[in-house]
Amino acid sequence: MKTNKTEARIYNFQEDIETLFQDWEKESKRNLIDYKFHVYRVWNLCLKLANINESNDQELFRILAITSAFHDSEYFIYRNWDYLEPSNIKLKNYLESIGLSHQSNLASLCLMNHHLMKVYRGPHFRVVESFRKADLIDFPGIRRHGIDPYFLKQLRIEYPYMNFRIIVWWETIKQFLKSPFSGLPMLRKNPYLLTIKD
Ligand SMILES: [Fe+2]
Repeated sequence: MKTNKTEARIYNFQEDIETLFQDWEKESKRNLIDYKFHVYRVWNLCLKLANINESNDQELFRILAITSAFHDSEYFIYRNWDYLEPSNIKLKNYLESIGLSHQSNLASLCLMNHHLMKVYRGPHFRVVESFRKADLIDFPGIRRHGIDPYFLKQLRIEYPYMNFRIIVWWETIKQFLKSPFSGLPMLRKNPYLLTIKD
């Protein structure tokens, strides 16, 4: 099949992502570059899968960048394996601080369901499921979920992913061996749905 190379538009600078990472690196004194590359890959893949760009939905374009930045943040910054809920709280606080709390529900559904071990069926299906698939394409990276191989290749040239994969495999195996029954609390069998307090 012929590849349409003009489709390989990669978004490689987003202000919220840049500011958040600057703050996080300063605060944690960690080099978060491999996580940051993961964030940019997930964001770009999600945009592609959900067919969103800066012109057709500017606000969602930004919300997805922010959600990508926060989605595994509490693990990579603080090495907390039970990271979904604390990452989600910080995501909601951030959205509130920039006047976008009306998008909190959608952002939380994306973040809280991104390790759901089956197809997500629920509110905002298209975006939430695209976010879940985008993360899966990046890790473990077994399936492409319809993403064009040329686009994926370009994305991985722009944001190299080998270090990230080695780190995540290594840390996951270590954690699993340490506590095989409860060591990976971020994996979800059932979808997270909004509660009354959301
Ligand atoms: Fe992730």
